[in-house]
Amino acid sequence: MTEQNISNLSHEDRVFEPPADLAANANVTAEVYDEAAADRPAFWGKQAERLDWGTPFTEVLDWSNAPFAKWFVGGKLNAAYNCVDRHVESGNGDKVALHFVGEPEGDTRDITYAELQDLVSQAANALIDLGVQTGDRVAIYLPMIPEAVIAMLACARLGAPHTVVFGGFSADALSSRILDCEAKVVITADGGYRRGAPSALKPAVDEALEKCPDVTGVLVVRRTGQDTAWTEGRDVWWHETVDQASTDHTPEMFDAEHPLYVMYTSGTTGSPKGILHTTGGYLVQSAWTFWAVFDYKPDDIYWCTADVGWVTGHSYIVYGPLANGATQVLYEGTPDTPHKGRWWQIVQDYKVSLFYTAPTAVRTFMKWGDDIPAKHDLSSLRILGSVGESINPEAYVWYRDNIGGGTTPIVDTWWQTETGAHMISPLPGVTSAKPGSAMTAIPGIAAEVVDDSGNPVDNGEGGYLVITEPWPSMLRTIWGDDDRYKETYWSRWPQYYFAGDGARKDEDGAIWLLGRVDDVMNVSGHRLSTTEIESALVSHPKVAEAAVVGATDDTTGQAVVAFVILRESAQGGGDDIIAELRNHVGHQIGPIAKPRQVMVVPELPKTRSGKIMRRLLRDVAENREVGNTTTLADAGVMDLISSGMQTAKDDD
Ligand code: PRX
Repeated sequence: MTEQNISNLSHEDRVFEPPADLAANANVTAEVYDEAAADRPAFWGKQAERLDWGTPFTEVLDWSNAPFAKWFVGGKLNAAYNCVDRHVESGNGDKVALHFVGEPEGDTRDITYAELQDLVSQAANALIDLGVQTGDRVAIYLPMIPEAVIAMLACARLGAPHTVVFGGFSADALSSRILDCEAKVVITADGGYRRGAPSALKPAVDEALEKCPDVTGVLVVRRTGQDTAWTEGRDVWWHETVDQASTDHTPEMFDAEHPLYVMYTSGTTGSPKGILHTTGGYLVQSAWTFWAVFDYKPDDIYWCTADVGWVTGHSYIVYGPLANGATQVLYEGTPDTPHKGRWWQIVQDYKVSLFYTAPTAVRTFMKWGDDIPAKHDLSSLRILGSVGESINPEAYVWYRDNIGGGTTPIVDTWWQTETGAHMISPLPGVTSAKPGSAMTAIPGIAAEVVDDSGNPVDNGEGGYLVITEPWPSMLRTIWGDDDRYKETYWSRWPQYYFAGDGARKDEDGAIWLLGRVDDVMNVSGHRLSTTEIESALVSHPKVAEAAVVGATDDTTGQAVVAFVILRESAQGGGDDIIAELRNHVGHQIGPIAKPRQVMVVPELPKTRSGKIMRRLLRDVAENREVGNTTTLADAGVMDLISSGMQTAKDDD
């Protein structure tokens, strides 16, 4: 084993083939992989035909100024027209676009495509009245309510790039994003419902705007009716403006490379990066992948549990599904309000057939117990999706068995804010799937795993994940910082896009994601992946969730330190739980991977999008003062963990 290669230590040999009936009617066939590989631009040019263009493009890809791409050169289109109006024009105006489910029980609202067209046009007209012009930026800070989707589409309709800031972010996070992209208008709400109670949003906007003198208008949705401070001359109510505006608005066609939105994502260091997506390429790939990867059919009912504040909400709640004219559920609240079966109740009530969520949610449901989903009829589900991190084989099989009735295929979709749309995933009617692997690049995408010198590794070896050819929904730059764009993504191997993830290819060439390269540990000269050790821990019947970090160690360079949450059914685990878990990892992976310490904790520190903040756990493991916790979903978690760690050390 060399230092260059990330160790390949996990063992997983289960393979699930596509169900026969799904394969027989699948949108995509196996030949498409070869067809696309033979001529990628031609393949994407063909997929672009699923959109309506005001002016046809003359060239699919201009890569002459790499890494700054131009897709669908000369083409003009309007993203909102493609997501809304054209479905009405083709006779589907009565089809439901959104089944909104508010967190308070019984608070529901169905919106058809024809209604959505009116609402988006009204919002566009109201934004014009607030002075928004093509090219101006608009910040959106809303709960998961229909107005979030309407606001995004209204901006797209005007060619005013939106930047959606997750409603759970602080005033500081909001102001830094508004300042970075110089937004002129903010769209927000008085509040939203969260865990059974109204939770205010507007105060954070008011605080943020103290630092943002250039914001001239704030459009406020009345959602909860709570008392709301008001700045005359700046703030206007949605119901007094949008609801009164004309439903007539003629969408203008914009250049394919016109900016559609800026989405901020954290980097390893420094300030968040404003990832810029443009119109044509982004819409083509989000629309095609929604259709291909979820095998979307017109009568499907789709539900993605992400928040519109993340890229998943942009590509797979707003642009991908709506470009396809899909019907979807939009749910405002948390999975356990008012009870832990709320999601499965919604699946049953709306007969959801395509369901897309994150591994962290799956593990939470695993922890809560099999009996909760078992109380609901989930037989409408035909495809399950996973996104955001590797899904541990144990969670995968639990998801397939307990949500998917033991037969429903899972698509484990690898992609990033930067890639804009799915890149690596099985196709549910075409390819086999292995629990824990995102399998191979989808048609039209070229991914590779390379070593330090940029050479492809052999099957059975690990390295760094790169994308070797440009793709339509690729980020175009980091907003206002072309140099940082080049440096971050295109400098390690200038001809490849470096995703920052470690990966390995198994004996069949399937790709297994190993987490961010920054999360790779080096124990006695062996590079171990945090993901593999976490998977081994979660495969133990008493463990619900695990996070592993490398802590400095005098002897081994780094040592494995594990933080685990036990399942409720483990009832505390018993006296020997630590030894049992260390041995379990030793047995599953090998003695080298045995954690030096195992900490049983009540919670793990996570960002609001559910990613474990290993940086904080490393601080605990290395006995440092815990660093910046501002992006933590629950700031109290670190105190709980640190105090527990102290006790464990005293006991040693
Ligand atoms: O490390 C990979 C992980 O999430 C990162 C991208 O995060 P973000 O930009 O927030 O986008 C999340 C939603 C697309 C990747 O670099 N990641 C995402 N999906 C997977 C994954 N890791 C393993 N398997 C996945 N399916």
